[in-house]
Amino acid sequence: MDGNGRWATSRGLRRIQGHRRGKDSVKEIVETAREIGIEYLTLYAFSSENWERPRREVDALMGLLRRYLKTELNKMMRNEIRLRAIGNLRKLPREVLSELRSVEKATRHNDKMTVQLAVSYGAREEIALATRKIARQVRDGLLDAGDVDEEVIGDNLMTAGIPDPDLLIRTSGEMRLSNFLLWQLAYTEIYVTDILWPDFRRAEFLDALEHYKTRQRRYGKTGEQFAQQGA
Ligand code: IPE
Ligand code: MG
Repeated sequence: MDGNGRWATSRGLRRIQGHRRGKDSVKEIVETAREIGIEYLTLYAFSSENWERPRREVDALMGLLRRYLKTELNKMMRNEIRLRAIGNLRKLPREVLSELRSVEKATRHNDKMTVQLAVSYGAREEIALATRKIARQVRDGLLDAGDVDEEVIGDNLMTAGIPDPDLLIRTSGEMRLSNFLLWQLAYTEIYVTDILWPDFRRAEFLDALEHYKTRQRRYGKTGEQFAQQGA
């Protein structure tokens, strides 16, 4: 969800006002995704690198996150949405972490859609953590080193149990992954739009999905193989 800062400064506003407007986009996109039957939606809300931003901006983002969780819980219950968080959550301020845990707990049996919130998240950190977990299992004799395969790695990532994304949407025109789900995105279709996140709403989301439908996902096979299978 990129472009909040640019959205604000181009209007002579403070960056935080862009983040505030970005929160409205989050609400609209979650609502739309639920309405059209998307089962998993991951939002990259705050990266492990974002901790390096000015203290004031970090505090404001944490405040927004906390308020979002507080005000949206009812809607998540009504719409049967499960919320789960991935990231190095121990770095979050105590009040934010406890709000997050309580929303996760309250929504854990909701099964119409899963919203995965990546906060204080970095993919390399996630992979390092998974590697440590696997190494310990091998050390303790619970796992044979020769059995460490893609499935074992996937099962030890924070996203365990969540399917790999079909589509990655990157707003504000940046052509990079920014340490997001590096393992899980192996075969994900990438859609980059110049639209800034606060302007990314229902219509823009539906455009991205329409575009996705035109992609031929070959998973390394040839176009002819797919034509033959009728895929
Ligand atoms: C939102 O956009 C991303 C967050 C960390 C919340 P930015 O704050 O990165 O906006 P730009 O890139 O400065 O425009
Ligand atoms: Mg940015």
